Formats: sequence, C-alpha cells, structure tokens
Amino acid sequence: MKKSSPKAATENVENENDEHMDNDLHELFLDELSDLYSAEQQLTKALPKVLKAAQSDQLKTAIEDHLRETEGHVDRLEQVFQSLGEKIKRKTCAAMKGLVEETSELLKEQKGKASIDAAIISAAQKVEHYEIASYGTVRSWARQMGHEDAVSLLEATFEEEKAADAKLTEIAESTANEEAAR
Ligand SMILES: [Fe+2]
Ligand SMILES: [Fe+2]
Repeated sequence: MKKSSPKAATENVENENDEHMDNDLHELFLDELSDLYSAEQQLTKALPKVLKAAQSDQLKTAIEDHLRETEGHVDRLEQVFQSLGEKIKRKTCAAMKGLVEETSELLKEQKGKASIDAAIISAAQKVEHYEIASYGTVRSWARQMGHEDAVSLLEATFEEEKAADAKLTEIAESTANEEAAR
C-alpha cells in the first residue's frame, strides 16, 4: 500500500492535467472557430468591392465563385457549432480586419492602373493563406478531440480555400505569360 500511493497520486495529477488540456483545447477551438466566423463574415462584405474593381473576366469569375463559396463557409461554421452543441462567440477577427483594410487601401492606390488585377490577386492570396492556416489548424484539433462531423465540415472548406488559392496562382501566371508575350 505504501509503495502504490505515490504512484496513484502521480496518476491523478496526470489525469487532471489531461482533463485541463482537453477543456483548454476545446475552449481554444471554440475561440478560433468564432474568430473564423468573423473573418468569413467580413469577407462576404469585402469581396463585392473587390469584384467591382477587378478588370479581367477570368479574375472576376474567380472572385464571384469564391464569394459564393465564402457564404457557404459561413453556413458550414454554423453547422460546426450546431454539431458541437455550442454557441458562436461574438468576436472580431483582427487579422482579417487588417487584411481587408490593406485591400481597400490598395484598391484606392491602384485605381485606373494596369497593375490593379495583380494587386487584387496578391491581396486575395494573403487572405486565402490566412484561411488555409486557420482551417488546417481547427480541422486538426477537431480530429484530435474526436469531433468527426466538425472534421468533415472543416475539411470541405479547407479544400475550397486551397483550390481558390491555386486558381489565383493560375490566373496570375497566365496573365503574366500574356503580358510577356506582348
Ligand atoms: Fe472562406
Ligand atoms: Fe477563402
């Protein structure tokens, strides 16, 4: 008995630490999801202005498509919260606010310039990379905690963000090639 008690005490501490880790990670997960919800909502408001400024048909179509997908991302995040039985926290994603502000400034500076589409693509890719990093992380946490419905929903958005980013690269490269061929 004497020998086993210190070991039992250590085990209890370990279990408690695991529980704290689970609770803390779950809270962090909810915070990050709420942050993403704010980010996606900010984007649905910002993208129509970017769409108006875009010049080439190819870029316009890509932005239009991704605006529709972004509205779907907002819906999916609501479904994620539903699947967890949790409420969305009121938050403002400061990073997206900054990216949107930078984009607005860029649109003003680039107005009437031949480089406006290149500027839009660079701003949009910064946004996509932010989203890819965020969705990749929350998807991994969801998997770690066994929230399988959330994993599928977050994975679906993660894939759309990656495809949107790849599409922008494709447009940037084809435009650059066209320019070079002139
Ligand atoms: Fe998104
Ligand atoms: Fe996106």
